[in-house]
Amino acid sequence: MDKHLIDVVNRLQDALGSLGPNTAVDLPQITVVGSQSSGKSSVLENIVGRDFLPRGSGIVTRRPLVLQLSNRRPPTDENPEIGDNGENPYEWGEFLHVPGKKFFNFDEIRTEIERETDATTGNKGISAKPINLRIFSPNVLTLTLVDLPGLTKVPVGDQPKDIERQIKDMVLQYISKRNAIILAVTAANTDLANSDGLQLAREVDPEGNRTIGVLTKVDLMDKGTDVLEIMTGKIVPLRFGYVPVVNRGQQDINQKKSIKSALENERKYFENHPAYRAKAQYCGTPYLAKRLNSILLNHIRQTLPEIKNRIDQSLKRYRQELIELGPSELGSSSSVVLSVVTEFCNEYRSVLEGQGTEVST
Ligand code: GDP
Ligand code: NA
Ligand code: MG
Repeated sequence: MDKHLIDVVNRLQDALGSLGPNTAVDLPQITVVGSQSSGKSSVLENIVGRDFLPRGSGIVTRRPLVLQLSNRRPPTDENPEIGDNGENPYEWGEFLHVPGKKFFNFDEIRTEIERETDATTGNKGISAKPINLRIFSPNVLTLTLVDLPGLTKVPVGDQPKDIERQIKDMVLQYISKRNAIILAVTAANTDLANSDGLQLAREVDPEGNRTIGVLTKVDLMDKGTDVLEIMTGKIVPLRFGYVPVVNRGQQDINQKKSIKSALENERKYFENHPAYRAKAQYCGTPYLAKRLNSILLNHIRQTLPEIKNRIDQSLKRYRQELIELGPSELGSSSSVVLSVVTEFCNEYRSVLEGQGTEVST
């Protein structure tokens, strides 16, 4: 039921997304913010367990990527390893803008993200129009994450002069929505007080009520220093706390170290480290994924009544438009929204009824 709930919110997101970024209904989702090279892509790839994001220097993420992870059990208990061709029959991606195509090859997913980014932005600009990618896999928890361009200070090459402002505005547009959970990524070998991600999060969430901190590059901290004090919330308090992680370093990536061995390495790092040993269960990517999944589910449950009200209002508005304009005047995207919204309301009703909550109709 829970998994299904996130899936239905995902489909609603697709339908609304096709109408543009400023749709009336603000759906719960986790938005990733942090400065360039803080490790955002690495965190997302580790959560998915696959390499699929464009990498490189400069501003690589130039459009928001709405990444909808969907947990699917294989038909039997077997969970095959990735084959020699780099593919696993039970793991694939689907893009909203490439209907009907399943991408089993994750290198192809990366190429498609790059191609689609350039298609809207040229080769240097940024655009707030999201790319929607859904990944089905037995190895993910059902979760929706939005990757945003990294915060940057200095334009390089022929980037627009106001690129810092442009990126900030776009990130703010996403994280200022009250239903956005903010995943603020900060490299642990930099000063927390100067974290771009946390600073921006604080502008829209001053009390830290909907922000979770991720501390990357814990392995690169000076010897004898650790993130324990940050984790206690004494420095910058956050309601959802901080999770330290260890991703692959540049050398690991150059040497094509697999994510599987990177995760193994991360587990050993926390279990064997004198400072983290006692808290190892609250460290690392698998814990982060579990935590995000439960935060998102709780958040969806809490916001359902409000979402339903807004959706009901949109429904009324669409129906009114239908009456006023006649069905032929309405674009096909509106009718898609209408049917998904109807389905969502039914789903929502059954969830709340399942919990014994009263729902007015
Ligand atoms: P993004 O720009 O925020 O998406 O950052 P990336 O994920 O592309 O990471 C930037 C660089 O930092 C890459 O060279 C990564 O290999 C490296 N990196 C990221 N996380 C870690 C980490 O936890 N430890 C180490 N040693 N390197 C990391
Ligand atoms: Na940062
Ligand atoms: Mg990146």
